[in-house]
Amino acid sequence: MTELEALRSRHSVRKYQDRPLDDAAVKALQEEIERLNREGNLHMQLVLNERKAFKGFLSYGSFSNVSNYIMIIGRKSDSLEYRAGYYGEKLVLFAQGIGLNTCFVGLTYKKIDGAFEVGRDEKILLCVAIGYGEADGYRNHKIKRPDQVSNIAADSPEWFKEGVEAALLAPTAINQQKFYFEYVAPDKVKPSKGTSLAGYTKIDLGIAMYNFEVGAGRHHFHWLDSPL
Ligand SMILES: Cc1cc2nc3c(=O)[nH]c(=O)nc-3n(C[C@H](O)[C@H](O)[C@H](O)COP(=O)(O)O)c2cc1C
Repeated sequence: MTELEALRSRHSVRKYQDRPLDDAAVKALQEEIERLNREGNLHMQLVLNERKAFKGFLSYGSFSNVSNYIMIIGRKSDSLEYRAGYYGEKLVLFAQGIGLNTCFVGLTYKKIDGAFEVGRDEKILLCVAIGYGEADGYRNHKIKRPDQVSNIAADSPEWFKEGVEAALLAPTAINQQKFYFEYVAPDKVKPSKGTSLAGYTKIDLGIAMYNFEVGAGRHHFHWLDSPL
């Protein structure tokens, strides 16, 4: 599966089969997490066979059989939230590519003492539930139009249109899609975030930027004023 195929087939999955991750999947995930932690200067950690974090919540999105998850943690800095989204999405697409399902989770989980490490000056940003979904999930939600999230025009380059299409498939908190991509000819893209009472717009922009890169092809453009 290519990364673009993984991006197109990903949906948030909240209900999982009650079985542990295969050894090969655990090994592949651990290696990818190490690689991305180095690349993104993060402290993401895989938590296995831990069922308490997702017990007893009836709130937004109802989860079942979550016993594995990734904690996205990093040292405090101005770019931390954007990087958490960007590298978190990179990891989520990797997981999709090896046959796993995921769901980013901002609020509806418990932080379990001893299940992961939070260093001094570090902050917990997000959790990502991971496992074999009961189903693949499906896209039953609204998606904005390209012209609502970009300055797309009939004569925009093809790669820009494809980048925007891919960004529109990005997961965002409460599906808010508060991001914007401005094409600056000939080969620059300026990303920006909107505002929201729900928050998470920096993380969402990081996620959408990663999707944009996959859709557009990294060699076609440079980010202008990247917050990463
Ligand atoms: C930063 C962030 C936080 C999220 N938090 C939650 C959450 O707390 N509970 C939940 O069920 N889904 C959560 N989601 C999943 C979104 O609801 C989901 O991505 C969005 O509705 C789009 O659906 P899709 O991922 O299937 O395309 C979160 C997603 C993101 C990106």
